[in-house]
Amino acid sequence: KAKRKESIFLTMNFAKDYFMRMMQTSDEGKSLGLGYFKNRGYNGDTINKFELGYSLDSWDSLEKEATNKGYTLESLGQAGLQSENEKGKKYDRFRGRVMFPIHDLSGRVIAFGARTLKKDGKPKYLNSPETEIYHKSDALYGIYQSKDALRVKDRCYLVEGYTDVISLNQSGIENVVASSGTALTEGQIKQIKRFTNNVTALFDGDAAGLKAAIRGVDMLLEQGLNVRVVRLPDGEDPDSFCSSLGGDKFAEYLKREETDFILFAARLYNEEAKNDPIKKGEKIREVLMSIVKIPDTIQQEIFLKECAQVFEISVEGLAKNLQEIKQKEL
Ligand code: UTP
Ligand code: MN
Ligand code: MN
Ligand code: MN
Ligand code: MN
Repeated sequence: KAKRKESIFLTMNFAKDYFMRMMQTSDEGKSLGLGYFKNRGYNGDTINKFELGYSLDSWDSLEKEATNKGYTLESLGQAGLQSENEKGKKYDRFRGRVMFPIHDLSGRVIAFGARTLKKDGKPKYLNSPETEIYHKSDALYGIYQSKDALRVKDRCYLVEGYTDVISLNQSGIENVVASSGTALTEGQIKQIKRFTNNVTALFDGDAAGLKAAIRGVDMLLEQGLNVRVVRLPDGEDPDSFCSSLGGDKFAEYLKREETDFILFAARLYNEEAKNDPIKKGEKIREVLMSIVKIPDTIQQEIFLKECAQVFEISVEGLAKNLQEIKQKEL
């Protein structure tokens, strides 16, 4: 079994090298793959740092190259690099897409995210399936490239996508990882905690994005992390906003807008409830549900005081409610 894992790692590394080489040397790769990344403003250092590549628009170019070099069809299958049609015919899974390798903490490639170049191509990102070396719920995009910066800066910026991580890196913000579009799992948070206890989540400005992000934060609080948030303007993601502002202005924006998560949620909810006492009661309970997740009781008390101010109610009342919630949870 250990031997099979080793052969999957070798096969993934070979595929990564092949995708990089095709992008740098083939006519198709240069014009479509490299052209795409240049269009997004990525320079050569960035492309090398993230080992970006391109998969040729062909059913078997990877398979041919791999078998020529002595890799078995079996190992290609175990690495998740092939798909299969109804008749059992195998073919290259990634075709005509730009390739984002996903690395583990030690820099080995464990999976790929592959973006379509077509305007409304579906899926936008085709990802590797689960394999013996890739468990989606444990992988954290950017952790290998960011780990030194996470420790030095003692802070982790949390974003949604591959391109967010890459743009911020090119702008000099290297302490950043992506959840790859889903809520963080315990396994992912444990990896962050090896390097820092401070997480700053960059939120999409629109209402749907906010709601989803707020729900995603509870797990971070539960794990005892200090959670701050930065809200981006409506319709912007970290990549688009960083590219339009430029790196220096973007870094200033982050510093200026960074808010403690509990206070951020309290203010947002208080505004939403306006003068409706029933709604306000519901919103207060929602914030308390987040506060109750914080393991440190001293921090809980500090947040209670601040929330009491925001919602303009007594600390005693809030504290009593928090106790009630705690009792129900037991
Ligand atoms: P987004 O739709 O925000 O994509 O998904 P993006 O990262 O901004 O990419 P661009 O700028 O349009 O090229 C955020 C993340 O969710 C995951 C990917 O990890 C993506 O980076 N995702 C999204 C998928 O895995 N599959 C999809 O089809 C879409
Ligand atoms: Mn698994
Ligand atoms: Mn979004
Ligand atoms: Mn996005
Ligand atoms: Mn984007």
